[in-house]
Amino acid sequence: MGISYRTLIGSEETIKRIEELGKEISKDYEGKEVTTICVLKGGVMFMAELAKNISVPLTMDFMAVSSYGNETSSTGVVKIIKDLDESIEGKDILIVEDIIDSGRTLSYLMKLLEERKPHSIKICTLLDKPERRIVDVAVDYVGFSIPDEFVIGYGLDYQQNYRNLPYIAVVDQIN
Ligand code: IMP
Ligand code: MG
Repeated sequence: MGISYRTLIGSEETIKRIEELGKEISKDYEGKEVTTICVLKGGVMFMAELAKNISVPLTMDFMAVSSYGNETSSTGVVKIIKDLDESIEGKDILIVEDIIDSGRTLSYLMKLLEERKPHSIKICTLLDKPERRIVDVAVDYVGFSIPDEFVIGYGLDYQQNYRNLPYIAVVDQIN
């Protein structure tokens, strides 16, 4: 079983855009400390690259939720697989996501994290598919808005594979 795919956003372009996001975030959080929450597993590469470009004091925590299983379309079921290690009460939280599709995952996460009384919560996503939105979420930082196509690479998977591609690719065909 294989798939065919083609580059949508190259490695250099991706890294350059993440640098810009890092600068913007550093400016917005000046004088504060940012608690980044990476949504596993897809957000991991983006988180690593983004964090290198943020100059304010920063801590990292990780959370894993399931939304899709092995399918390529949303089921609407969101479950916590791994919770945060630290309390976020009173903290300035930045959620770091790979992609926002229907918005279900993030809207669920936001509600859950807000109950823990952080000082603020913002969302930073590498990719956004605005056409696919079902649940409205306020996204503060977007790397790239992309059309309604299934993408892989830079942390994003197809059946757990291809996360290691250093660029973002569109899946053309699933054989
Ligand atoms: P949402 O709840 O529909 O917004 O789904 C968000 C999650 O679905 C993302 O964090 C990804 O893990 C996954 N996802 C959505 N679109 C894609 C895609 O094109 N490629 C790979 N994963 C995707
Ligand atoms: Mg994800």
